[in-house]
Amino acid sequence: MSEMQQPAAEKKQVIFSGIQPSGTLTLGNYIGALRNFVKLQNDYDCIYCIVDEHAITVRQNPADLRRRCLELAAIYIASGLDPQKNLIYCQSHVSAHAELAWILNCFTYMGELNRMTQFKAKSAAHADNINAGLFTYPVLMAADILLYQTNLVPVGVDQKQHLELCRDIAQRFNGVYGNVFTIPEGYIPKVGAKIMSLQEPEKKMSKSDPEETYIALLDDPDTIRRKIKRAVTDSDGEIRYDPENKPGVSNLLSIMSALGAGDIETIVADMQGKGYGELKNRTTECVINALTPLQSEFKRLIADKGYLQSVIDENAQKAAYLANKTLRKVQKKIGYAPRG
Ligand code: AMP
Ligand code: TRP
Repeated sequence: MSEMQQPAAEKKQVIFSGIQPSGTLTLGNYIGALRNFVKLQNDYDCIYCIVDEHAITVRQNPADLRRRCLELAAIYIASGLDPQKNLIYCQSHVSAHAELAWILNCFTYMGELNRMTQFKAKSAAHADNINAGLFTYPVLMAADILLYQTNLVPVGVDQKQHLELCRDIAQRFNGVYGNVFTIPEGYIPKVGAKIMSLQEPEKKMSKSDPEETYIALLDDPDTIRRKIKRAVTDSDGEIRYDPENKPGVSNLLSIMSALGAGDIETIVADMQGKGYGELKNRTTECVINALTPLQSEFKRLIADKGYLQSVIDENAQKAAYLANKTLRKVQKKIGYAPRG
């Protein structure tokens, strides 16, 4: 990040976002998050974190977690993020995240965390491991964002509630200690903020659900074709965008539109008189065209672990420099003893 060399007037706004290295990334992650990261990289100073500390709120196999962190770095780069322009690094390599999270825990109410719908959903899904980390997960996310004086946070709609909590915590802290934190705004895409499951289109597409319900970023063309062919639609046969009554068909239209096939009205107009088979063929084509270049770049990058390691090492150092500036300020404000 070239913040230090830029004259103040040219300082760009800051973007921060993170993805958990906790499973195969899906088309939902790509459309809701990654694709937008790439669009924003020229106009902002961007920080894209591999949030491994969030991932361990549910049990992870250590070898898998280790492997997925490097894979996610490769996916970030393969989707078009330039690691010279964007900070791509692992959350656990910058200790300021955990340190600020502790402080912010003391500025967050149990009642606020109890209202988080993701906590409720994850506690139901992991009833044998409802740990305190799962409960305070949004506080760590707030720390991630606030450490970098972030202006904008590109995420899918499922993170909106966490983001609002982050703003509340920041405002509360600033109310007591002055303007320490920038108050961040969400950046939620108009189309594709919530890509739905292919099998249960009333539910979000999620990597923690069974294989057939999602398209993985690294699925080969035959698998993509098969999954979309089997996607649940409805029985009225009409191609129309109506998420409430026609969630399956609307989801396919959103996917096409988000991947550059035009706005939804135009696609619907084009498809008049056509059947669901044709809709699925066109959706498949859009998905394969979007994912093929990413996949070949991923294959090239993942073969060069040394390069990926050097990217996350160098970027973690740069991130730590920025994060520690905010952390030191916060520590001073709350009255931690000065360091000698
Ligand atoms: P996660 O995989 O939970 O770490 O999510 C990483 C990013 O992908 C977040 O910004 C999510 O909001 C976004 N995301 C995850 N699933 C979807 C989905 N089905 N549709 C749109 N965005 C999603
Ligand atoms: N909680 C986010 C998710 O599951 C990931 C995340 C962690 C994040 N820290 C963040 C997203 C900070 C945006 C900003 O999707």
